[in-house]
Amino acid sequence: MNATITATAHYVPEKVLTNHDLEKMIDTSDEWIQSRTGIAQRYIVGENEATSDLCTQIAKQLLEKRELSPDDIQVIIICTCTPDYFAPSTAALVQNNIGASNAWGFDLSGACTGFLYGLETGAKFIESGQYERIMVIGVDTMSSIMDYTDRDICVLFGDGGGGAILEPTVSEKGIIDSILRIDGSGGDYLIMPGGGSRQPATVESVKARQHFLKQDGKTVYKFAVKGMADVSKDIITRNNLTGEDISLFIPHQANKRIIDATAARCGFTEDKVFINIGRYGNTTAGTIPLGLSEAVDERLLNDGDMLLLAAFGAGFTWGSMLIKWETYP
Ligand code: ACO
Repeated sequence: MNATITATAHYVPEKVLTNHDLEKMIDTSDEWIQSRTGIAQRYIVGENEATSDLCTQIAKQLLEKRELSPDDIQVIIICTCTPDYFAPSTAALVQNNIGASNAWGFDLSGACTGFLYGLETGAKFIESGQYERIMVIGVDTMSSIMDYTDRDICVLFGDGGGGAILEPTVSEKGIIDSILRIDGSGGDYLIMPGGGSRQPATVESVKARQHFLKQDGKTVYKFAVKGMADVSKDIITRNNLTGEDISLFIPHQANKRIIDATAARCGFTEDKVFINIGRYGNTTAGTIPLGLSEAVDERLLNDGDMLLLAAFGAGFTWGSMLIKWETYP
């Protein structure tokens, strides 16, 4: 028995932050950002809007699209590294917001690979035979940990994400394979140093801007291309496929140059690669479900198509997932 995706949805906040807006805030230019990253704009939350609010919008759409009642959901997995709080979990807030009275759930922290970790976890619950309806949502509110005086990083990220319902299928379709990795030796290259138990918030830590995400962009870039390309090629080979068998490749959207370099290493032609980074920037755990939901809305996936997902992020975490697409009503 496989787990299959039976509904997808996405949501971004209303407020748009364009490259031209950023030109007024830091020493940058639309030309620099577009040529180095492919990003033209990103969405960011308004006042009093947080990750659980975006997740709740997605959860409500998922229920409506699949015509489910909140009570049908058994597990809520929220993939995020920007939860509303350390405790309670974002999953608890979403459960309460949608009234899913039979569910349990948890937050899953896998940075940009979070949604793949979440799909894998949900799929294994389904395959166990104990669960039949699982909601997996990937959302990040990156603006909440962004230093808008640091031009090296603040131009890259946005807020938003998407989600999916997982259910069992008796067909040979659905999630058929995954390769997931983690390597903490890369931890220092992309890190938010403050706010956790290592460096709790103090007046000094706030003054030292420790509660913002920091990165070594060039190192992350190199590891991201190699990591995503390696696991994408490996999963194709071990399923006795070639690049030509892949109908659609939805990679994590960190930087268009990372996507292009990864696709070139895998031998994918441009028409097979889904790219929406220009409108959203990097929404971390949100990029893959946001891309998947848009691809479904744009009817880019047909029954039986081979869909390849790949991600890379802080940790380092990375992975690939192969899905034989099953069209749902
Ligand atoms: N506007 C204008 N100039 C800038 C900006 C900016 N926003 N940011 C940096 N610069 C300057 C630098 O200071 C540098 O100036 P200098 O030569 O005078 O020192 C110059 O531009 C070139 O900087 P580089 O670092 O060489 O630019 P590069 O081509 O490597 O692009 C980038 C930088 C976009 C950050 C790239 O390294 C990258 O995308 N790395 C991956 C990082 C990433 O995606 N992180 C997200 C999380 S992980 C993930 O999701 C995979």
